[in-house]
Parts: sequence; structure tokens; C-alpha cells
Amino acid sequence: GRKIILDTDPGVDDAMALLLLHGTPGISIVGITTASGNGLIETTTRNALYLADRFGINAPVAKGQGVSLDGVTSSPPVTIHGRNALGDIPLPATRKKLDPRPAHDLIIDLVRANPHEITLVATGHMTNLALALRKAPEIAGLVREVVLMGGAFGYHGARGNVTPAAEANFHGDPRAADEICAAGWPLTIVGLDVTTQTIMTDAYFADLRQHGGKAGQFLWDITRVYMNFHHGLGLNGIYVNDASAAAYVIAPELFKTQKGSVRVATESVALGESILKADGRVYPPGDWDHRPSVQVCTDVNAEGVRALFHNAILRLG
Ligand code: BDR
Ligand code: CA
Repeated sequence: GRKIILDTDPGVDDAMALLLLHGTPGISIVGITTASGNGLIETTTRNALYLADRFGINAPVAKGQGVSLDGVTSSPPVTIHGRNALGDIPLPATRKKLDPRPAHDLIIDLVRANPHEITLVATGHMTNLALALRKAPEIAGLVREVVLMGGAFGYHGARGNVTPAAEANFHGDPRAADEICAAGWPLTIVGLDVTTQTIMTDAYFADLRQHGGKAGQFLWDITRVYMNFHHGLGLNGIYVNDASAAAYVIAPELFKTQKGSVRVATESVALGESILKADGRVYPPGDWDHRPSVQVCTDVNAEGVRALFHNAILRLG
């Protein structure tokens, strides 16, 4: 099947992305690497081990960086994902052991061992991917595809969720995000522009709880805190962030994209802001000119994403 490394900071919607991939025929998760973001790195790593163990995902789990390339540790968004980053459900100890390698080394090893076969999906702070690129730049030419959940480009009014200018994954390590956008690999960015267009309501999760077996019940349990946070924003459901990136990997036809070069602000009041210069737009010569073109998602078939997710969870049961 299609080989995926998920670089993730579980995280409620990260767990959703993992289950969507795991429940889809033809997809095989060959590595899980942990990022900081929704929890400190110890928390997200414990959660990744827990999820892999609980759902029988037979892939190495490697611990990633706890600080950004610029040495910043961000404080976790406990009111959104819970204090344990999985909606404060009880988390019994797991028997699964960590891979001894740091996350970026696991990424490099797997990409080298499977040339042109690995799809990297990143749904947390992007530090591990940037470290892998710095250490082994040739992996840019050896991956099949890279899909990120991060950024916001102004489509449908999307600008930021952690500041008025920035999305959380890019803001957590803006330099890493910027380097990833400059790497020249086949990159697609799934930002708030589309993830906030797909909403899953309480009724949707109630249906999964009823028909989706243990996976459906688990999703109901972990989404309670996350749902309350979204209710506080005046929404009747949750934004589907990370699972939208997983959906892109499985069914890119559900998305519309724009090609162009992307930069991420690494300083200033706009720290973490993502900016797209669409291909074909002409400006006076400048720093943008040597950036490779990437794809940014601008529109999504939300009903299609909800159906994809629903079917995957029913298969896991
Ligand atoms: C992103 O930030 C995290 O809180 C979510 O898991 C998602 O990856 C959304 O901005
Ligand atoms: Ca995430």
C-alpha cells in the first residue's frame, strides 16, 4: 500500500488524522514521529504511543523535538485539546516502546530505504521535517509527496487562529515551516482556508458513536473538550484540521489548489504568517523569485471529507 509517515502532535484532530489513514484500505502507516504543539513533547509522544498501541498500528514511533529551531517552547493549548491533549480521557500506560532514533533520523532512514515511495504528512510544529532536510537535503528528491496541515492564505477569510496573522503549526516553528516551503519537494499545504470549511457536528459524532464501534466511541470521548471550545466560538461543530490533510492524501480530488511560492514570516508582529505568491503574478525582482512552486489548497468538498472519515471509522469499528 501507499506508505505514510505521520509527523504529529496528538492532539484531538491529530488522532482523527491517524484513524482516517489507518482505516483506509491501501494506506500503510510506516512511521509515526512526534512533534510539539498540542502538548509538550513528552505528552504528544505518550499519546502517539498510546494511539498506536490501542489501534494496533504496527509502526515505529520516534520522539521529536520539544523546541523550535529558534529554541522556543510554546505553551500547550489546554483549553482546546485538554490537559493531556486528548480531551482529558483516562490514558492507561502503554506497552509500546519508543524507537531509539530521534524523529528526524527515523524520517531520513525510512525515506532512504523507500525511495520515491514515502508520503510525509505533518500535522504539528514542523521542526522534525526541517531537521531532516538540514541533515539530509537529498530526501527532498526521494519522497513521493509531502502534505502539511498548516498556514492560512486568506481564502474564505482565513488568516490565523493563534494570532490574527498566524496558524498554530506554522507559528510554533515558523523557521521550520519556511524551510519546508523552500525545499523544492512536491509539497501541498492544507491550511485553515480549507480546514475551517469542513465542520463535524455533535450529530455527526453521535452517529459514529452509535455505528462506529470502539473507534466511534473513542472519537466521541476525545472530542468533548474540543467541541466545547468550538461551541465557544459560536460554531455547531468542530473544524477538521489535521484529518483534512489526511483526506488530501487519500482523495486529492476533493480539493482545489493554487500553485505558487510560499514564505513564512520568521519575525515581527506577523510571526508565523504564511504568504502565497501565486504563479504568474509579477512583482519587482526580490526574494520570492527563487522559491519553488508548491500547492496551496483553496477549496474543499466538505461533504466528501466527512463521508471519507465516516467510512474509515466504520471500517475500524
Ligand atoms: C493545528 O494546530 C493544532 O492545534 C491542531 O492539531 C492542528 O494541527 C491547527 O491550527
Ligand atoms: Ca496537530
